[in-house]
Amino acid sequence: MLPSLIIAGCAFVFCANAGHVEVEVPTGISNDPTESNLLNASQIVRPGGLDEGVEKIPKVKKPRKKLSTRWTTKPSCVSDDSGQEFCVYTNSNFANGRGISFFTTEEISESVKDLAAFSEEGVHDEVNVFSDPPWEVRNIPGRGNGLFATRKLERGDLIIADTPLGVYNSDAFFADYGLGYQYLRKTYDQLPEESRVILMSTAAHSPGDPIMERINTNAFAGEFEGQNHFFLYPETALMNHDCRPNSMYYHNTSSLIHSAHASRTINPGEEITITYINLLQSGTERQEILKMMWGFDCTCELCSGSELSKARSDMNIEKIVQYHKDLADWTSSSPASPQLAEHLLELYNKEHLYAALGTGHMFASLAFNAVGNVDMAFQHAEKALEAGMVSSGSVIDDVEEMKTLMKGPKVHWSFMARARMG
Ligand SMILES: *[C@@H]1O[C@H](CO)[C@@H](O)[C@H](O)[C@H]1NC(C)=O
Ligand SMILES: *[C@@H]1O[C@H](CO)[C@@H](O)[C@H](O)[C@H]1NC(C)=O
Repeated sequence: MLPSLIIAGCAFVFCANAGHVEVEVPTGISNDPTESNLLNASQIVRPGGLDEGVEKIPKVKKPRKKLSTRWTTKPSCVSDDSGQEFCVYTNSNFANGRGISFFTTEEISESVKDLAAFSEEGVHDEVNVFSDPPWEVRNIPGRGNGLFATRKLERGDLIIADTPLGVYNSDAFFADYGLGYQYLRKTYDQLPEESRVILMSTAAHSPGDPIMERINTNAFAGEFEGQNHFFLYPETALMNHDCRPNSMYYHNTSSLIHSAHASRTINPGEEITITYINLLQSGTERQEILKMMWGFDCTCELCSGSELSKARSDMNIEKIVQYHKDLADWTSSSPASPQLAEHLLELYNKEHLYAALGTGHMFASLAFNAVGNVDMAFQHAEKALEAGMVSSGSVIDDVEEMKTLMKGPKVHWSFMARARMG
């Protein structure tokens, strides 16, 4: 059943202009209420992590270790019908002892060694830390578990940053499930004990192979080194879907860190949510995709509103999508204008699409600069940058664009670009 979960397209609003953003879709939603002890922070330790205050020793460039020594267990391999081989690669020292297993091709396992995740010293020192999280796991009758704020969170505050316990090539789930499961089992067995506990404490939707079901219920799908993979981020998987989520995430495929930040103020007691799907879809599309991919009926506030409110929201979404197109169109026939950009920002707010604000402010900045209003261009660029910080990089190209504009609006390519068209 897994292959059907892979979708092409964009899972997040930023895909409107940031073509590099990965497709990223958790494959499940509610956590099984019968699974207790979902996350016990005291069980997550970081052996070998640098203590704060300890003076960092100047880095000496060490010769790169041979790949064979990077995997702490000898890779075990299996071929599919076409002869393509997939192997299980485990490094139990990854992320300060949390460990990671890949089930993927040899070629990808080779390229993995160059990623910051494996080559940048200290890259995981601040992640997988759950000693005092601003949330707790609570059971919602009828919906399983969810994450609830225990402290007030402001826009931009970090909620969760973790590394995956497993990364699975989607092509590795081939017809011979029985055989495939044996290898999935290895990805699990070869992890450190504490990480196995964490993995097993995640929810499984259905009975069946315990590892397979946990991947099916909790993993995110995304492109990795040019191929579709599933990523099991066990803590991130605790967050439920909302059509108008109060947090947004960024998946760094180089450091293999998945981080979620508050996209608006979240009050203590509020559930912390992310979106599983592209936010810019109509109610009907949302219902269909959530049902098809995760098998649940969308019951978020937006989906369960009146027909009138749903129709209104659909109209707003349609307009937003159109405005994105208009504002990204730099030909002389484009109806783009500062007013249109301001209207776009109003619509985001009306629709509670706070996670999209960065995109809106970037469009507004360019639209103002394009008619020579440098002051307003500057103000919107600042706000776009703030949003870029909030999402910790998911709009990185836009952030660079805005930085360049702020350094010299009048020499930026957008300056007077629309005025000249007349
Ligand atoms: C978490 O684990 C520790 C050590 O295993 C235990 O002492 C503690 O009671 C556990 N906490 C919860 C909330 O289960
Ligand atoms: C992703 O992680 C790498 C390695 O730590 C870092 O250099 C890069 O800036 C990160 N990318 C973003 C967009 O945050």
